[in-house]
Amino acid sequence: MKIAVVGTGYVGLVTGTCFAETGNYVTCIDIDENKVKKLSAGEITIYEPGLEKIFLRNLKEKRLHFTTDLATGIQDAAVIFLALPTPPGENGSADLKYILGVSEELGKLLTTYRVIVDKSTVPVGTADKVHAAIAKNYTGEFDVVSNPEFLREGVAVDDFMKPDRVVIGTTSERAKKVMTDLYGPFVRQGNPLVFMDERSAELTKYAANSFLATKITFMNEIARLCELLGADVDMIRKGMGGDERIGKRFLFPGIGYGGSCFPKDVQALVRSSAEVNYDFKILNAVMNVNEKQKLHLIPAIHSYFNNDLKGKHFALWGLAFKPNTDDIREAPALYIIDALLKEGASITVYDPEAMKNVRSQLGNVIKYVDNQYDALENADALIIATEWSEFRTPDFEKMSSVIKNKVIFDGRNVFDLNQMTDLGFYYVSIGRKIIKP
Ligand SMILES: NC(=O)c1ccc[n+]([C@@H]2O[C@H](COP(=O)([O-])OP(=O)(O)OC[C@H]3O[C@@H](n4cnc5c(N)ncnc54)[C@H](O)[C@@H]3O)[C@@H](O)[C@H]2O)c1
Repeated sequence: MKIAVVGTGYVGLVTGTCFAETGNYVTCIDIDENKVKKLSAGEITIYEPGLEKIFLRNLKEKRLHFTTDLATGIQDAAVIFLALPTPPGENGSADLKYILGVSEELGKLLTTYRVIVDKSTVPVGTADKVHAAIAKNYTGEFDVVSNPEFLREGVAVDDFMKPDRVVIGTTSERAKKVMTDLYGPFVRQGNPLVFMDERSAELTKYAANSFLATKITFMNEIARLCELLGADVDMIRKGMGGDERIGKRFLFPGIGYGGSCFPKDVQALVRSSAEVNYDFKILNAVMNVNEKQKLHLIPAIHSYFNNDLKGKHFALWGLAFKPNTDDIREAPALYIIDALLKEGASITVYDPEAMKNVRSQLGNVIKYVDNQYDALENADALIIATEWSEFRTPDFEKMSSVIKNKVIFDGRNVFDLNQMTDLGFYYVSIGRKIIKP
């Protein structure tokens, strides 16, 4: 099948590459000329495990193309995916200007039946708006389908190639047939294509992300309670997770959720609710708790350094909002950096993939080094903000010999408490007792 993907970011590039991998001819369109130039030349623009290999293979096989020109890109495409940004607008609701802008352009270009598929996360009613925007300039036949994307950055290729479910919102039999053919290779093991109406599909995505954000936040509140009551959140997590109704996943406490999706999607659902005069109380609380959680380590840092961080030097491991990605959107590490710099501290950071993105956002207000141990030089304490695997079993002897003070503030509970006791570190983590040497 010939496919066009408009928007070649995390979702668009993974979508386009994975559809090419199953034999389709895919053209990805993006307004960012630099991005298109790099991708066309075989240079991948995001870090996503496993993506580069299939990207290069499909580029070589000429099943994957890139262009900045919408008209060229959609020529002959039976299906046109929209994988465009939907950032929060001024009042927190999803800004649809990219989606509706492209839809209007499409209306000027269409001449035959196409299926326009919305992959971006959009509020209920957007499929109707996309339909209307196209219909302004095009009176022929077309269908608009809502197909929200559930991939997780860091495991996006696996998630796309082996989805646990694919949600497809359409009431058109013709579009349903096209989508069934397209997704067939991805659900051969029997995972379902879940068909529903457009509005339900749109809401499913927000409901799923908001539920997950709530689950994380619930555990973060339990962790806070553990700190006050002298209980251990790791034990509680294990005790709870054995109950199949709860499940083991998403019960790890930390310094809050970040990324490009959870924060904006929770906020957008609260806004959508308000627009129909519904006060979504739980989600308002989730947002409030999460804002505070990002800086949860700061009072512990204050307390250790007697409220005086001026001239103190910190090592920071982890910048990405979660491991296995270079994405730093809403990353808790950035909030910690900001808070420490404001108080006159200096920081040296290390992250396996995200330093380039942070450097382009923050410049040289912090120092960047190429490995985790160099970051520890002259550090009064180490802060851990992302649980990259390579941080889990470091060379503790080397750490002890490089760091100035054996002090760790761990926002991701990377280390074992007994181990920290044996090694003689002062160790603060989330929802567990403080280890003092
Ligand atoms: N990133 C995720 O993990 C994820 C997961 C599921 C759903 N989503 C949703 O998917 C959507 C896209 O997210 P993303 O993370 O891929 O965004 P992104 O910012 O990484 O990529 C969007 C791309 O669209 C391009 N673009 C903007 N305007 C354009 C235009 N007029 N024509 C062509 N290209 C244009 C941008 O240059 C950019 O490359 C959002 O709605 C997001 O909520 C994201």
